[in-house]
Amino acid sequence: MSDSSSGNTRGGVKPAAGKLGVLTVGLGAVSTTFMAGVESVRRGHSRPIGSLTQMATIRLGKRTEGRAPLIKDFVPLAELDDLVFGAWDPIPDDALTAAKKAGVLDERDLAPVADFLAAIKPMPAAFETKYVARIQGTNLKTGTTKRDLAEQIRKDIRDFISRNDLDRAVVVWCASTEIFITPGPQHATIEQFERAMERNDDAIAPSMLYAWAAIMEGVPFANGAPNLCVDTLALIDLAQRKGVPVSGKDFKTGQTWLKTVLAPALKARMLGLAGWYSTNILGNRDGEVLDDPASFKTKEESKLSGLHTILQPEVYPDLYKDFAHVVRINYYPPRGDNKEGWDNIDIFGWMNYPMQIKINFLCRDSILAAPLVLDLALLSDFASRAGMKGIQEWLSFYYKSPMAAAGLQPEHDLFIQQTKLKNTMRHLMGEEQITHLGLEYYT
Ligand SMILES: NC(=O)c1ccc[n+]([C@@H]2O[C@H](COP(=O)([O-])OP(=O)(O)OC[C@H]3O[C@@H](n4cnc5c(N)ncnc54)[C@H](O)[C@@H]3O)[C@@H](O)[C@H]2O)c1
Repeated sequence: MSDSSSGNTRGGVKPAAGKLGVLTVGLGAVSTTFMAGVESVRRGHSRPIGSLTQMATIRLGKRTEGRAPLIKDFVPLAELDDLVFGAWDPIPDDALTAAKKAGVLDERDLAPVADFLAAIKPMPAAFETKYVARIQGTNLKTGTTKRDLAEQIRKDIRDFISRNDLDRAVVVWCASTEIFITPGPQHATIEQFERAMERNDDAIAPSMLYAWAAIMEGVPFANGAPNLCVDTLALIDLAQRKGVPVSGKDFKTGQTWLKTVLAPALKARMLGLAGWYSTNILGNRDGEVLDDPASFKTKEESKLSGLHTILQPEVYPDLYKDFAHVVRINYYPPRGDNKEGWDNIDIFGWMNYPMQIKINFLCRDSILAAPLVLDLALLSDFASRAGMKGIQEWLSFYYKSPMAAAGLQPEHDLFIQQTKLKNTMRHLMGEEQITHLGLEYYT
């Protein structure tokens, strides 16, 4: 494997000593499902299903060596017992109330962790309805400039760390998808970014204030939504300079996850694609926010980006030139968090004969997203202790629209992303990369 990221090897990784604060921006369906699930695992009521850091193994050395520890036994990660949760949200509901409203988890699963969830109360949010049209909140920060708000977020982070006697913290954006913003001069350098905050420029969305604040506090930041947030030259440069790992964008949980599995399969067999039509019905608050065209545009851009990168129509025009790609999300309240998606894929094969693949995806959004929040929190913290900084491309595995260095195509293929993730762990822990060549077994 020639790809490698900056960082120290085994000797340089600091131990995961002490407690880790996990601050989520947003205390909605995803965050409360994540927190309830971690507590349920800690109390011995469930298993961390869907979490690679908790359940997956990693092969080390040759196949004949039989070394395949659990990732969490190989890489020094924070223990679940050492996690302490906090959040910001413009809606003042505590995590128990928010979880009940979200309707993801059944009462029988909430009751055993009700005391724990009720104690998590959101800090006032930096929020403006202008950026998320469908949310009205009362739990808001006030300040004359956006910079004031961002400074208050910095103070929240510091206070949270000292109040809970934490060793470290991470921030994960689990808040609503903001409207689409095109990167402009305000996002080009940190000086321009900070001036734009000071003059309340519209191009500075609330998500960017949280990202700036976390980086300024030396706290890793992961962005689970498709909005620009930390994915600007200014904030990436700041993260690099401050030595802070950042990653994004948009948790890869559903239709896009399967797309990044199936598209590589079509390409591997050199089968053509005429079109891919994806539609969804979703009835949770996220679905309602995405019903607003400006927020949907942000999501659409994120959902559309993967196929072209994987299929490379410029390299394979006979197979992939001008394929149609349509993505729809329809807000349909009766389904709540239990999304249903349909994909119709028109492919063609030998002598241009057309064929079709249909997928009916009946999954639970937050049940798929919660373990990703856990993994991203733990791995972002690990990255920080390993001396990694700036964009964490090896965490692309978790994202629909992975951040990558300027001029570099992001990697979308789930299995290349998985190889990159595991090889980065091996690299940071001073183990050999695995190339899957395997000739040595036959000589
Ligand atoms: N569930 C999934 O599978 C999945 C996959 C990819 C991305 N996402 C993204 O994750 C995010 C969370 O999804 P969800 O289902 O939990 O949504 P949700 O609507 O249940 O929760 C989002 C919360 O964020 C809060 N919020 C909005 N703006 C905020 C701000 N500026 N500061 C603090 N809080 C703010 C809202 O009040 C709300 O409580 C969404 O952006 C969604 O698009 C989810």
